[in-house]
Amino acid sequence: MQVNRDRTTLLDLAIVLSDVMDMISPLVHNHQKRAAYIAMRLGEEYGLKADQVTELVLAGLLHDIGAFSLRDRLDTLDFEFDDPHRHARLGYQLIKGFSGLSRVALIILYHHLPWQTQGYEEPDGRQVLIQSHILHLADRVSILMDEEKDILDQVIPIVDVVMSRMGTTFMPSLSKPLMSLALRESFWLNAASPFLEARLRERLDGHLPVLQPEDLSDLSTLLSRIIDYRSHYTATHSCGVAATAEALARTMDLPEETCRLMRIAGHLHDMGKLAVPSEIIEKPARLSAEEYGIVMDHPRRAARILNALPDLGEASQWVAQHHERLDGSGYPNHSGGMDISLGSRILAVADVFTAVTEDRPYRKAMTRDMPLRFLMDLADSQQLDPEVMSVMESRFDDLNDLRRNIQEAACTRYDEMIRPFAEPRSESEQ
Ligand SMILES: [Fe+2]
Ligand SMILES: [Fe+2]
Ligand SMILES: [Fe+2]
Ligand SMILES: [Fe+2]
Repeated sequence: MQVNRDRTTLLDLAIVLSDVMDMISPLVHNHQKRAAYIAMRLGEEYGLKADQVTELVLAGLLHDIGAFSLRDRLDTLDFEFDDPHRHARLGYQLIKGFSGLSRVALIILYHHLPWQTQGYEEPDGRQVLIQSHILHLADRVSILMDEEKDILDQVIPIVDVVMSRMGTTFMPSLSKPLMSLALRESFWLNAASPFLEARLRERLDGHLPVLQPEDLSDLSTLLSRIIDYRSHYTATHSCGVAATAEALARTMDLPEETCRLMRIAGHLHDMGKLAVPSEIIEKPARLSAEEYGIVMDHPRRAARILNALPDLGEASQWVAQHHERLDGSGYPNHSGGMDISLGSRILAVADVFTAVTEDRPYRKAMTRDMPLRFLMDLADSQQLDPEVMSVMESRFDDLNDLRRNIQEAACTRYDEMIRPFAEPRSESEQ
């Protein structure tokens, strides 16, 4: 099959998601790609079919997606840690509904399940897929690798640790594939290299279908939840921005494709904030110059990752510019006037409007006609686009109702999905 790098595939999507997760902590940098590579090689050695290996690689790239607080991320770095199933269950919840990922979600659900509990089944009888056992082993081998040391000096200790747990923690029939790989220096050198994406693409590029527009829209929804759920203050922010930006574009009679991309850009505009520590996002006071510098980098970080998705077109540029202002007072480039695209101007209005109607750690939400007056002042001072603002003003009540309804629904979903995972469960609940 001809490789078409002009279109986005499920592999591009999984790589972007793994890069997004890497932003949360440099300490776990590349962990998901490394686990995916090790799992892929183990799966091939075990004799899995090509489509099973593909599912395994996608699961490897996404497996810790449920560990999106820094604490959860760091927990997963311990070889043995409390309640490893918490992030596995949350990861399953997040991705099970997305097209083409239902089996991948199941692999993730059980990626920390010890082999000795192999009879374990959920009440609805879901089976543990073979790839979950392979991913479990690959994940733990990846955790045992120390990037600071020569990888070939670590082979014997790593193999000793995992082989001593074959039959208890790990599936015993994985001993042979593991030992066969362990004897090859090339396997370890590849697993330790920073070029894991190239190794995965060599194997999978051309084997995955191109994503459809609705898949990209679903991806943006999934990403917006990861971005928003890090803090209850922002739990519904991106979906409010997405709904408002799309509605503004429709009111302005922009082409259907532009309206669709506006919604995606709204979902993804604050993706770069995953690299901003929660203490800064939740700080109930003015940020220091250094902290503000970290925040100011978030549009650029997001755009750099989104550039890898060719089907997003102009949306990555809109994201890069969503804090620029017409009078040049924005960031990070201090662009002004016509250098700021129309999409970025719409996104900026939707972002400020949504932000001022939400509670934040340092202030309460604006109510009644205060948001409109605040936005009009920003348009009068040439920060926000006056033309976009006049469209907003003409439909203010409708847009405000739409935003409120979308955010209320998102709030209910957040409560159902995240609250059960917010704290470790008490004994009485288990
Ligand atoms: Fe994990
Ligand atoms: Fe992991
Ligand atoms: Fe932002
Ligand atoms: Fe925002």
